[in-house]
Amino acid sequence: MANVVTSIDDYRFWRDEKLANVQADIENCLVEVNKPTQLSKAEKNQITHLCRVNNFALFHIPSQQDYESSIVSFNQQFNLKAFDQHLYVKGQGLAHITQSDQQDQAEFIPYTDRAIGWHTDGYYNAPEDRIRAFSLFCVNPAQQGGENQWIDPQMAYLLLREKNPDIATALTHAQAMSIPAHKVDGQIRRKTSVGPIFFMDEMTSQLYMRYTQRKKNIDFYDSDEIKQAVEILDLLLAGNTQYHFTHTMSANQGLLCNNVLHKRSTYIDQQDTPRLMLRGRYFNRVQS
Ligand SMILES: [Fe+2]
Repeated sequence: MANVVTSIDDYRFWRDEKLANVQADIENCLVEVNKPTQLSKAEKNQITHLCRVNNFALFHIPSQQDYESSIVSFNQQFNLKAFDQHLYVKGQGLAHITQSDQQDQAEFIPYTDRAIGWHTDGYYNAPEDRIRAFSLFCVNPAQQGGENQWIDPQMAYLLLREKNPDIATALTHAQAMSIPAHKVDGQIRRKTSVGPIFFMDEMTSQLYMRYTQRKKNIDFYDSDEIKQAVEILDLLLAGNTQYHFTHTMSANQGLLCNNVLHKRSTYIDQQDTPRLMLRGRYFNRVQS
């Protein structure tokens, strides 16, 4: 099985293929979908192709009666069925990302109007609950802000490795990033998570990334190489390569992806219709 982290030949082959197929123009990454509950062959092929070469696709659907079931059905057609039983997930596996006035939920930044820094979803999850894909669908945009930015983490790895292979190697250290356990009233809700930032995901044989740019409550392995590599990674993310994508989703638009690195800007809600995004997190990658 190809291993782009440890084999130089595998890496070069993978890199050349990736660079030859990447789609850097966002206009070409948006797929118009007629009926999300019943995709045409062409729509489905276009979306899976984009998710194969770029690890994401944007899509736009007509207005729906029941957004929740339409998005669940849309995702299922890409074999996105097994979902993360996240704290605030509702019945069919989607979380409603909107400002919450519930005290416990409002402690988590996604449920506020605040900005969220670069991260992959579920970076703190145990390996058996690894998030390989997520969907983010816009029911109501904000009045202002709520812009998303993302980059394919595999492309981030490629850019870092081309710049300096030692940086890429440092980020594959088995204890590169640790997230302490989440405790509530002395009870462990989530165990400590220790692992590399970039690694080969055994289940899919794909290069995977777990990362958060948050520095609070995150421990990086205590070595100069790893700390410097994290700084260079952050610099890359803060920059603007042709592989950075920036988009504010309008109503009825969504992002389907193999857990790309992403961030969100702060926003201001419209008075009567607060920003509402439906998010699904899945254990499989997007498949045809
Ligand atoms: Fe996220």
